[in-house]
Amino acid sequence: MDFELKTMTPARLCAEKTDALVALVGQTPASDSDALSSLIAQALKARDFEAKPGKLLAAYRPAGLAATRVVLAGVGDGSPKNIRSAITAAMGGFKGGNVQHVTVCLANASLPTSALARAVVLAGSDAAYSYTTTRSKPGPAMPVRMTLVADSAAAAKALQQGMDTGVALAKGIELAKEWANRPANHATPVLLAGAAKALGKLKGIKVDVLGPKEVEKLGMGSFMAVAQGTAQPLRFIVLHYQGAAKTAAPVVLVGKGITFDTGGISIKPAAEMDEMKFDMCGAASVLGTFRALAELQPTLNVVGLIPACENMPGGRAVKPGDVVTSMSGQTIEILNTDAEGRLVLCDALTYAERFKPRAVVDIATLTGACVIALGGVRSGMFATDDALADALHQAGEASMDLCWRMPLDEDYADGLKTHFADVANVAGRAAGAVTAAKFLQRFATSFPWAHLDIAGTAWKSGAAKGATGRPVGLLVEYLLGEAGRPAVKERSKAKAASAPRGSGRSGVGNKA
Ligand code: BES
Ligand code: MN
Ligand code: ZN
Repeated sequence: MDFELKTMTPARLCAEKTDALVALVGQTPASDSDALSSLIAQALKARDFEAKPGKLLAAYRPAGLAATRVVLAGVGDGSPKNIRSAITAAMGGFKGGNVQHVTVCLANASLPTSALARAVVLAGSDAAYSYTTTRSKPGPAMPVRMTLVADSAAAAKALQQGMDTGVALAKGIELAKEWANRPANHATPVLLAGAAKALGKLKGIKVDVLGPKEVEKLGMGSFMAVAQGTAQPLRFIVLHYQGAAKTAAPVVLVGKGITFDTGGISIKPAAEMDEMKFDMCGAASVLGTFRALAELQPTLNVVGLIPACENMPGGRAVKPGDVVTSMSGQTIEILNTDAEGRLVLCDALTYAERFKPRAVVDIATLTGACVIALGGVRSGMFATDDALADALHQAGEASMDLCWRMPLDEDYADGLKTHFADVANVAGRAAGAVTAAKFLQRFATSFPWAHLDIAGTAWKSGAAKGATGRPVGLLVEYLLGEAGRPAVKERSKAKAASAPRGSGRSGVGNKA
């Protein structure tokens, strides 16, 4: 969908030709000065409409307005969350209809802030997306253009900023959804690498792709063990976004890229196994984030790492009990071949060390246990560094792409002990999302690290089955914040320098 911003008076807006005018109606009393305002005032007075989030009232060719359709959409207090619900609800009504051009105005919604404009753009673009790649005919028609109306130059300034960020984000989210939605035979490791290479044409982005030989040379025995059961060759994708000085330490994003997860020899049950095409949503979110970075050009360096392969059973497949040597040198007993995500991620985390990163964030559809713990509302977030955890939490709140911090107590690692290797790849059923994170943590010892388990948030099941594009919003928000602040290490140095003598963490008995 295309977006634009226009500044016009209420009277001018009433004379504006458009397929549908969506008026966001908040709690401030409506004036009576123009046709739209008086329509709203009458509907409210007659109690045919309420300014509550989710409430809609539609009219066809109403008197005094040039728009073919007018939809009043309640937004309550006008929070970005309510704006999002209102746009989603209004757009639902245009599905399969004749509406191509939607005009959105803040009738008396709330202040024209950048957050509001961003919410409008993101909800509009989310609703307008429909998957078509492997259909012979396109799905139901949706609007292709959205105009957001500001009533003054000052309002336009605030809205424009949010709209620009929103449009950049929407491009990233759409790319993530698109690749995540493609079935596994249309999104193989090789095709995923092709999508990454295409990003390499954009400003500031470079892409390297490693194949089986190079990965073997690096000693990624754990990643290779997962890939050995399939005919599809693995790919290790390395993306670079350079927006700051070459010497500036990058943030590294690592995305799980299992293009299909059958479980391997520890095979999964048939029901809903098709959804395991979404097991590369972490990888898709990294691609989407780079797409948005190319638009936004923040002053920051970012590296993206994607270990991509299929997890299949077969004559060559890795077997329960097999012991492999990871790139870190640690040996791993693979007790369950379905716990493959951590096996590909651990080698990517070791590979990340060479960039001397300021922070590493991995993103993975890692455990069914995380779906049980947090459902589809918040992604699971684990972190070895409080500042990084806080930054990710805040980024989630600001972008409405929520996460929740989970524990990493050492006791949770007990179940990963084995007699036959340095570590086992699974513990018991209890706290499965945490024990998976504890496994990864062993490979993330030389940098501040966080892990996002997006198993519950990356896609929707059932009638609305499809990728959500999460957590691209969270990641981009976090990276934009990082572009404006010193690295964690520099931050703690500054803190130490400014703290009074003797108040630091270097006191006797502090083992940190
Ligand atoms: N990709 C799955 C996790 C998953 C399952 C995400 C269902 C979303 C829905 C992962 O590779 C997996 O199979 N994990 C196992 C781990 C277990 C064997 C310790 C799981 O969660 O069952
Ligand atoms: Mn699995
Ligand atoms: Zn998996």
